[in-house]
Amino acid sequence: MSLKCAVELGIPDAIHSYGKPMPLSQLITSLKIPQSKSSFVHRLMRILVHSNFFTTTKVTNSDHELEVGYVLTDSSMLLLKDNPLNLIRYLFIQLDPFVMKPWHQMSTWFKNNDDTTSLFETEYGITVWDYARQEPKFNEFFNDAMGSDARLVSKLLLDDKCKGVFEGLQSLVDVGGGTGTVAKAIAKSFPQLECTVLDLPHVVAGLEGTDNLRYIGGDMFQAIPPSNAILLKWILHNWNDEECLKILRNCKEALRMSKGEGSKVIVIDMVMGDEKRDHESVETQLFFDMMVMVYLTGKQRNKEEWAKLIFSAGFSNYKIIPILGLRSLIEIYP
Ligand SMILES: C[S@@+](CC[C@H](N)C(=O)[O-])C[C@H]1O[C@@H](n2cnc3c(N)ncnc32)[C@H](O)[C@@H]1O
Repeated sequence: MSLKCAVELGIPDAIHSYGKPMPLSQLITSLKIPQSKSSFVHRLMRILVHSNFFTTTKVTNSDHELEVGYVLTDSSMLLLKDNPLNLIRYLFIQLDPFVMKPWHQMSTWFKNNDDTTSLFETEYGITVWDYARQEPKFNEFFNDAMGSDARLVSKLLLDDKCKGVFEGLQSLVDVGGGTGTVAKAIAKSFPQLECTVLDLPHVVAGLEGTDNLRYIGGDMFQAIPPSNAILLKWILHNWNDEECLKILRNCKEALRMSKGEGSKVIVIDMVMGDEKRDHESVETQLFFDMMVMVYLTGKQRNKEEWAKLIFSAGFSNYKIIPILGLRSLIEIYP
């Protein structure tokens, strides 16, 4: 909440525009904080310095006194409005009151012997996807939030270290590809690659493709268009094992129907316990696990759980490539 407040107040942008360590007094002036609240600002900043969103250094202010000066960190750089890779919308959806409300019912949910699949459904009587279909504003809010993560991941995915994953492919379907941020970036980098975004009709309605990118409104549980490669970014963690098996079997069928070489499914998701991670990274992975439990039917999986799922869906092999921070790229071969 402190971070949300800081972003809403424009603190990262104010420090960035200042161009050098920003004294507290200057920050208070630039944010136009009234006198009655100015003594609280350093407390807001203190917790955000502690959690590494800002660092401090000593600076001399305009009265030649020594004062604390605030500096951005890599984390707050991702919260600058002008940074094309900013994650502001992702942050805002996580901390939205409507989205957070189901968390408060967790103990009730555990004791209820109802057949709802998630806390979101218990709270609102509808799944997240159906709610997005019914409420255009939420649909836009959700798709924009996903788009902000997708922009950042696309940048990493298409750098020299990862790009090879797409080389030599003839066609690719981004299943549950949202409004197409990742597919657009791939299509631009690989003009010979025929890219398709498959997502629910309300997500792709009105979106226009390009020469090598098209949108299809559909349901991945029904059918996936034949393709040489399938991308599943942040899809399987949303679903339970039974649902994932249906998706993966449809992927296998789509690969079988295509005539292309080097078929594979490319998954971008977390692999729990995959390497020695610091306390904060593990905590974040665990948070994501709780998040998909609260909102959806999914879970974060460890290596053994991934292997079981992959082999049960009839695939012959897989490779985990831990190159996307908390997430990994998993190649699955028919
Ligand atoms: C967590 S979002 C991930 C979006 C995108 N892949 C990304 O990472 O930015 C999950 C996506 O799955 C889509 N989805 C949910 N159910 C679906 C279905 N039955 N068929 C196709 N897409 C579906 C949602 O609309 C949403 O865009």
